[in-house]
Order: sequence, then C-alpha cells, then structure tokens
Amino acid sequence: MENKTEVGQEKDQISLLMPYQMGRFQLSHRIVLAPLTRQRSYNYVAQPHAVLYYSQRATKGGFLLSEACGVSDTAQGYPDTPGIWTKEQVEAWKPIVDAVHAKGAVFFCQIWHGGRVSNTEFQPNGQAPISCTDKGLAPQVRAAGVDVVRFTSPRRLRTNEIPQVVNDFKLAARNAIEAGFDGVEIHGAHGYLIDQFFKDQVNDRIDQYGGSLENRCRFALEITEAITTEIGAYRVGMRLSPFANYMECGDSNPKALGLYMAEALNKYELLYCHMVEPRMRTLVEKSDCQHSLVPIRKAFKGTFIVAGGYDREDGNKAVAENRADLVAYGRHFLANPDLPKRFEINAPLNKYNRETFYLSDPVVGYTDYPFLEEIS
Ligand SMILES: Cc1cc2nc3c(=O)[nH]c(=O)nc-3n(C[C@H](O)[C@H](O)[C@H](O)COP(=O)(O)O)c2cc1C
Repeated sequence: MENKTEVGQEKDQISLLMPYQMGRFQLSHRIVLAPLTRQRSYNYVAQPHAVLYYSQRATKGGFLLSEACGVSDTAQGYPDTPGIWTKEQVEAWKPIVDAVHAKGAVFFCQIWHGGRVSNTEFQPNGQAPISCTDKGLAPQVRAAGVDVVRFTSPRRLRTNEIPQVVNDFKLAARNAIEAGFDGVEIHGAHGYLIDQFFKDQVNDRIDQYGGSLENRCRFALEITEAITTEIGAYRVGMRLSPFANYMECGDSNPKALGLYMAEALNKYELLYCHMVEPRMRTLVEKSDCQHSLVPIRKAFKGTFIVAGGYDREDGNKAVAENRADLVAYGRHFLANPDLPKRFEINAPLNKYNRETFYLSDPVVGYTDYPFLEEIS
C-alpha cells in the first residue's frame, strides 16, 4: 500500500518536471517564473543587481517572465519600475538577459501600461494619466500592505489617440527583442490599461473601443496585431485576468470575456495565453471560487499557462490533468530562487516576506533568499 502511494506521488512530481515544447522553445520543465514587479529599477532603468536576481532563478530550459516594463513615458505608475522605451533602458536590460541566457533559460519581457493606475507624479509634465475612461480610482493599499497609493483621475483617450498607444506597445516589443529577450508577454491583466478597456466596470466609452465585448477587446487585439506583425506571433504571449477585480476593474461576464479573447488570440496564432486563476480576487488574495479556466484552456490552441496561488501539489495536478501546460509561480519563486530543484526533491520552501517585496534595496528581500545548499 505504502509503495503504491509512493509511486503515485512520484508520477505526480514528474508532470511539473516533464519537458515541454512551447512552439520553437524547448523547455525542460513546467515551472515558470511569474512576472514580479520589484521596484528596484531606479529612474525606470533596470539595474545591474537584476543580473543576479534573474540568473538565480534561471535553469537550463526554464521559462522566465520579466517584471512589468513600461512601454512609454505615460505607462508608469509606481516608483522604480523598469521601462523599455528608451535606448538607455534597452541597453540596461542586455546584461540581465545575457546572464539568463548563459544559464540556458528562455526569457520573455512583460510589456505594460498602467493606464489610470498612476498619478501626476509619474506622468510627463505632471499631466493626468491616460485611460479608456475619466473615472478615477480610490486610494489603495499595495499588495505588501506597507504603503498606500493615490491615483489621479485619468484623462479619457480620444479615439484618434489610441493608435499612438498601440504603436508604443509595438515599439516596446521591438525594443525587447533588441535587448535580447526571446519574446514578449503583453500585460492584459490586473486592472492596468488593457484590462481597463476589457472590463465593463471601467470602460464607459461610446466609440468603437467601448460597449460590446467585441469593442472592449479591440484595443488588446490591435496591440496583438501590431506586435505579431512586428516580431512574429511565435514569440508573443498575453496575460489575462478576466475574473479578477483588482484596481476596481471587474467584468459582469468574465467567462465570456476569457473565451472571446482565447478564440480571438487563436486567429493570431499567439504562442501562449497566460491566465490568472478565478480564485485570485486581487493580485495575491486567494478565495474559494466555483469558476474554472478549463473551458478557456480548451478553446485556446496554443500553450496555456496558469497562475495564482499554486503550490507544488496543485501545480502538478493541473499539469497531470491537462488543465495547463505550464504553471507560473509568483511569491514562491520570489522567495525560492531554486524552486524547480525544491519541487523536484520535495524540499521545504523559504517563506516570502511581503514587507520586502517592493523595498528598493538591491539585496535585501531580493537576492538574499537562500538556496537549499546554503541552508544545509
Ligand atoms: C511582488 C509582486 C509583484 C508582482 N508584479 C507583477 C507584474 O509585474 N506583472 C504581473 O502580471 N503580475 C504581477 N504580480 C502577480 C504575480 O505574477 C502572480 O500572478 C501572483 O503573485 C499570484 O501568483 P502566486 O500565488 O504564485 O504568487 C505580482 C505579484 C507580486 C507578489
């Protein structure tokens, strides 16, 4: 009996550690580094200390996503998040990408625009942030619970300004490739600009970018089209969180939104779709939930990545039951640079410390989480 259980457990372990062919990328396991903003990129420029941080988490054939990188000078909304719109920012990413590649990992750049999740302090000439709406956001406590963020009511983009923002995403994707990244992930989740267009709680436009589901998805799909034309769909993925209502950005029919986007992305032959689990009400808050991503997983033809509240056991289960191809880990990977190794041998995990998530220190809470060997 005991033996049987052991064999069963071994089989479970294997699913998360099985190789996977993601389009042209040969991955040696299914454990993805989720995009994690760390606010240590002073003046919006990635810093040399990120070389160690990312290479600590890189494995041969592993898949890493960068923290969200701003696509333009109107994209930012937090202190010291990296950008990817200037030459200096692109150059700064190069040694970081090289170090990850030296370890044999695949590295995509998450490209992002915060939209109304910003305030005048982060905007050029102290102007209002841009969005699909002019509805503002109430002040919020950040995920780490350590600081309150205040937002300025946004300025609603005019219809004829939208192509410029689409173009910013396209240029950012081109810049990411120039920096050496293997591809880009379009950040369409968590209440930021693209999600603001998606969700009917926020989008109150009366032009072709608002109203119907088709109209609310138009902005994301124009970005997808521009980027896939520019760099090729084989190295483009998109992250979505239809079920989340983070940043006052919820939708009355998230399942329809998720399905519509999965099917629309099929038309562009996007490499992957990265979905945040319905159980994630906010960025990091897990709750009981009846909804499932399975219908969306079935509808999408490319690689399906899931994220949100996963541990070793249910990540294994998701892959074993074919509910996902890959599983992205956020907080556990943040605190365990050797997470794939630990999952392999079922070692205990370091606990993450929320208070240092967004600390600007180049070491503390960043590159000082111990590896297994250091503990023993
Ligand atoms: C410190 C921190 C920073 C994050 N930054 C980003 C980000 O830049 N882009 C993004 O899409 N999600 C971001 N997230 C969400 C994570 O990618 C992930 O979806 C979330 O942590 C839930 O997964 P987990 O339970 O494995 O941590 C962040 C989460 C944390 C804790």
